[in-house]
Amino acid sequence: MTSPIRTERHDDILVIISNNPPVNALGAAVRQGLEAGIKQGVADASIKAIVIRCDGRTFFAGADITEFGKPMQEPGLGTVIDMIEASDKPVVAAIHGTALGGGCEVTLGCHYRVAVPSAKIGTPEVKLGLLPGAGGTQRIPRIAGVPLALEMTAIGNPISAKRALDAGLIDKIVGEDSLEADVIAFAREIASQRPLPRASEKTATADPEAVEAFKTANARKFKGFDAPAANIRCVEASTTGSFADGIKTEREEFMKLMGGTQSAAQRHLFFAERQAAKIDDVPADTKKRDIKQVGVIGAGTMGGGISMNFLSAGIPVTIVETAQDALDRGVATIRKNYDNSAKKGRFTMDKVEQMMGLLTPTLRLDDLKDCDLVIEAIYENMDVKKEVFGKLDAICKPGAILASNTSYLNVDEIAASTTRPQDVIGMHFFSPANVMKLLEVVRGAKTAPDVLATVMALAKPIGKVAVVSGVCDGFIGNRMLSQRQRPATEMLMEGARPEQVDAVHTGFGMPMGPFQMSDLAGLDIGWHRDPTRIESIRDALAAEGRWGQKKQAGFYDYDEKRTPSPSPRVVEIIDDFRAKAGKDKRDISDEEIVERTLYPMVNEGAKILDEGMAQRASDIDVVWIYGYGWPVYTGGPMFWANSVGLDNVVAGLEKHGIEVAPLLKRKAAAGETF
Ligand code: 3HC
Repeated sequence: MTSPIRTERHDDILVIISNNPPVNALGAAVRQGLEAGIKQGVADASIKAIVIRCDGRTFFAGADITEFGKPMQEPGLGTVIDMIEASDKPVVAAIHGTALGGGCEVTLGCHYRVAVPSAKIGTPEVKLGLLPGAGGTQRIPRIAGVPLALEMTAIGNPISAKRALDAGLIDKIVGEDSLEADVIAFAREIASQRPLPRASEKTATADPEAVEAFKTANARKFKGFDAPAANIRCVEASTTGSFADGIKTEREEFMKLMGGTQSAAQRHLFFAERQAAKIDDVPADTKKRDIKQVGVIGAGTMGGGISMNFLSAGIPVTIVETAQDALDRGVATIRKNYDNSAKKGRFTMDKVEQMMGLLTPTLRLDDLKDCDLVIEAIYENMDVKKEVFGKLDAICKPGAILASNTSYLNVDEIAASTTRPQDVIGMHFFSPANVMKLLEVVRGAKTAPDVLATVMALAKPIGKVAVVSGVCDGFIGNRMLSQRQRPATEMLMEGARPEQVDAVHTGFGMPMGPFQMSDLAGLDIGWHRDPTRIESIRDALAAEGRWGQKKQAGFYDYDEKRTPSPSPRVVEIIDDFRAKAGKDKRDISDEEIVERTLYPMVNEGAKILDEGMAQRASDIDVVWIYGYGWPVYTGGPMFWANSVGLDNVVAGLEKHGIEVAPLLKRKAAAGETF
């Protein structure tokens, strides 16, 4: 096999070049090649300095994640980096694209770092439940100080070349299109300078106040995750002992994380997210339709949020409402949201104006005639949606994609109200639509492959992760959600309290439990149709005006800041309802709550999979993590079920008389996983 690493001589400079598409991951062959290249440069007396650069779209984007969990092949990345640093000839990293994780660590082992202006460097290992395990936690604080090291390792977002330059992580920024020539010139300039700057020989200054402030500021973000604290401990270790001691701590912490379930779950998500973009029967090279102008129907919370995604990506939006005041309110909300982000420093006011300049508000549906994609985001009523799609059919240009943001209605029925069902698709955004990362793409029976491919590809530029769902009630996400709401309410009748059920869910890592979610959505949804009906606890609460957060009363009482507290009145209502139904009250264990609310979701997931409504189990995980805040560190419901053991899930369901999905039963019996 040919090595992904080659060397080129430029007189007295040796350039080591990696060509390992797509992202120059530091797999075994790359590490071996790097080691050989450095040895060659060091051994050759005519070489004065060594440059490391990469072909293709990026500098090394990190260790090869596909190698994790398999036996390590020598040399380890830490060994290669130590060898680079130990070289008695200067080694210069030539950085373009993203130098991430192990790639960033390679640069830190180099004596000098030179980058193009667009380059970014960072250590995102924490997002894989890990830490920079090849010296990063020790070299970053030694070069750039503790505060930046904490941010880079424990939060994991890459920083710009400019910021890296200011922090000393980069020595020089050169021309965007002349990296190699400029780095060779730089290498020649510094070739004879001694002593060589070695990060491991620097000292990092302890900063306990910065550490405490950092922990406090990020406590919410880090809740439940193991890796951030491990990163912090390693950075602290860089200030208390020798480099070798720090590396020992880093290794121990790294191995602990690598062997744990959280990292396995987070690595699963990394690949799941990328896999979700692939559609089994639609080739990746399917020609996409051009989307230059988007129309959004409805300027309410959903329509406004959806519009923001496109405006932020620089795509013009025409937003339509039926009444001027609703239109004005919608536009004002969009502006307010952008203004707030600008105040938080996310972007400048100029940028706000630029984005608002791309928005065309109108009361005329006819103004959508030139749009390449129209997304309907009005309330959930099949007749009204069909009417709107019928009109769009008459108005929109041929080839325009007509999408509905419905969260559960039949997309095929909506499509049938047009003469072009092949152009109709579901684009289900999650609230708040400008924030939540999930886009459930609903593929109708007649949706054309290029329409599906276009919408899937559009997800990335608008900052979404797209998952394909078939047409079924509630699609993937809401269909599974319904499986936890029903038993949760049943358990109230049997003796559980709302706060007990919710606490099991938030303790598990969900942002909120079933009753907190109901209060947020509104308990009066569906109730207004027949306010005399009191058939459930929910109806009884709605009948008393306890409509949820908006009324400061629902399953909980709320103060002005919307902080919930358990409600004595709700206990009375539940007790009363239970007595009327002639049911006994008993103690419900937390374990039972898990078995009756979380296991049924997995069960439904198995049905969705079996019916082909989801392409793969990992797609279901992506839906729940990005659409509903399922804890990332469990890997999503299906991955979590694997770690619980499918036989245990089956036993839990059977214990409560819940019918087990055939696929789940088969897999459990065969000892398989999803
Ligand atoms: N290892 C193996 N495969 C990787 C990889 C890696 N580090 N990074 C990306 N890939 C693969 C992806 O799975 C994808 O494969 P596919 O085409 O088969 O789906 C392909 O490369 C392209 O990736 P993206 O679709 O993500 O491409 P983008 O251009 O959108 O993004 C990127 C490029 C910013 C580099 C992004 O891929 C990324 O963030 N990669 C991971 C970076 C990372 O986490 N590095 C740390 C690794 S752990 C480590 O280094 C440990 C060390 O400290 C010891």
